[in-house]
Amino acid sequence: MRRVLAIILVCTLIAGVGVGCKAKAGVVNLGGIFPMTGASATFGTSSKNGVDMAVEEFNAAGGATIGGVKTTVNYINEDDTGLPEVGASAAQMLINQDKVIGIIGAVMSKVSLAIGPIAQAAGVPEISPTSTNTKVTLVGDYIFRACFIDPFQGTVMANYAYNTLKVTTAAVLYDNGNDYNKGLAENFKASFEKLGGKVVAYEAFTDEAKTVDYKAQLTVIKAANPAFLYLPNYYGSVALQLKQAREMGLNVPAGGGDGWDSPDLVKIGGAAVEGGVFSTHFSKDDPAPKVQTFVKAYTAKYNEPPDSMGALAYDAAGLLLDAFKTCGSIKGSDIRDAMKNTTFSGISGAYKFDENRDPIKAAVIIKIVNGQQSFLTTVNP
Ligand code: PHE
Repeated sequence: MRRVLAIILVCTLIAGVGVGCKAKAGVVNLGGIFPMTGASATFGTSSKNGVDMAVEEFNAAGGATIGGVKTTVNYINEDDTGLPEVGASAAQMLINQDKVIGIIGAVMSKVSLAIGPIAQAAGVPEISPTSTNTKVTLVGDYIFRACFIDPFQGTVMANYAYNTLKVTTAAVLYDNGNDYNKGLAENFKASFEKLGGKVVAYEAFTDEAKTVDYKAQLTVIKAANPAFLYLPNYYGSVALQLKQAREMGLNVPAGGGDGWDSPDLVKIGGAAVEGGVFSTHFSKDDPAPKVQTFVKAYTAKYNEPPDSMGALAYDAAGLLLDAFKTCGSIKGSDIRDAMKNTTFSGISGAYKFDENRDPIKAAVIIKIVNGQQSFLTTVNP
């Protein structure tokens, strides 16, 4: 009873100075925007799992103290269905109707690029767990990310192909309608050529969520006789591309980026994705005690081990909530400043932002062996 009274008083005081009572007494809203349905739905499920866990832990540990009042967080999760325009309306709703203190999201770079300007204009801090396209955080100073950027992961796989697999020719097949795929294709090509490799075919299609037939592009690629196939796309289309490539007798080693990181890659692709290698953010097989404690807790809660998105969404939410607690304010600019100066230590590494609010972080390389993700190595920047 005493707690409720104190909370009502604080709301009145805030209203008295004209700021308005932004949230329900003792509870503030936090928003999340993820693809819960559509072609990349495992991305949304894992991300929501990670945020839910971080919010539960934050609340169980007592939440934040705002104006002397213990304040917990209510998490509101929105589905962007993988489409920028749906993500944009979700952002409007979270900001204008739910008055969120911050937004976690999105996963896909093209969706993050659509919600960024809305969050920036409203002065609401946003952190994308896993959007890797360079442009995402350049939208403005309220926009952060919890992951490395594509020029880094493109280089990581170019190095791996050229120096470890010892291939000197490669083909690239990518979606030219998504900033992520297009950017990562360019980054891989530039790095591979800088090393002395040759990109013998560079083929595009538009909209992987709608495309099912890649045979025309694969025919061109096969004719160019590459020693390596780079597919910087999301898991659903990668699985189809590799199935069709293998059916056509294109059996060279294949690789890609974090878009491959889904349990459904193997479920859809089966034997066609076997031996594939990709760069990503996190491996559940990392022996660090902190990672293993997280993997145990996550697996116990959700009946499956965390993938990159589960881990990075957990880190992104943890980082924003830690900043909220540190500044003790619901004002967007205060939370943003605390985020900028964070030294938050996450599951996927210690966070320190550069001038573009991008953290400097290592990548891991994973190989599909016997239908399982197998951890190969960690690559530091
Ligand atoms: N990096 C991808 C993008 O920017 C999203 C992604 C992250 C996909 C992690 C898979 C795993 O669109």
